[in-house]
Amino acid sequence: MIKLDDRLSAIAALVRTDRRICDVGTDHGLLPCYLAQCGAKRVIASDVNENPLAAARANVEKYGCSGSVELVLSDGLKSVPPCDDIIIAGMGGELIADIIGGCGFVTADTRFILQPMTKAEHLRRYLYREGFEIMQENGAYSGGKAYTVMLVRYTGVKCGIDDRFAYFGRCTDERYIRKVNAQLEKLARSDPKLLEIIGHQTEV
Ligand SMILES: C[S@@+](CC[C@H](N)C(=O)[O-])C[C@H]1O[C@@H](n2cnc3c(N)ncnc32)[C@H](O)[C@@H]1O
Repeated sequence: MIKLDDRLSAIAALVRTDRRICDVGTDHGLLPCYLAQCGAKRVIASDVNENPLAAARANVEKYGCSGSVELVLSDGLKSVPPCDDIIIAGMGGELIADIIGGCGFVTADTRFILQPMTKAEHLRRYLYREGFEIMQENGAYSGGKAYTVMLVRYTGVKCGIDDRFAYFGRCTDERYIRKVNAQLEKLARSDPKLLEIIGHQTEV
């Protein structure tokens, strides 16, 4: 069985393995192979670049997952057929938002599992503005860094969110909160009102 690090494990834990899955920007392809090992039968591993896709292909062969994992060269979701659970991880929040914006097959049952490396506040604002809801956020800690992993669905209800929710979301993980606090302390040098939200969270 593939041993994933804490970040990828936290992502995998939110995926429904009995659905059609796509890992957008798969790179090494370890997550799709792991999901196949967990019983997933319909997994797409997609990437916009040939080299990562070649690395993913090597792992699909190494782990004997070619019956369950299909490799697709695609910019975001443009060439990906309809899927139920869409993973977009290890990219900036702005790029993740762009990729979601290009998804042509969202239904009430579609789930996005999102793990932004940067600009999580941009991604949260985008999600609520466009009618998505963050159902759950879990912290993860890998390589000395704290991350958040979001489980998201489409509700069609469009609304704004306040700064607190934009920066902390639903993540209650202490290490993630500490990381966001440090980020806010830096940003507050040029935008002092951000000092008010350090260490606090709120619900929408
Ligand atoms: C840092 S890696 C993350 C790999 C993996 N998702 C993870 O979290 O470990 C980012 C990957 O996203 C791919 N990528 C960047 N922009 C993309 C896009 N518009 N559509 C699909 N893949 C993209 C890159 O080629 C790269 O393989």
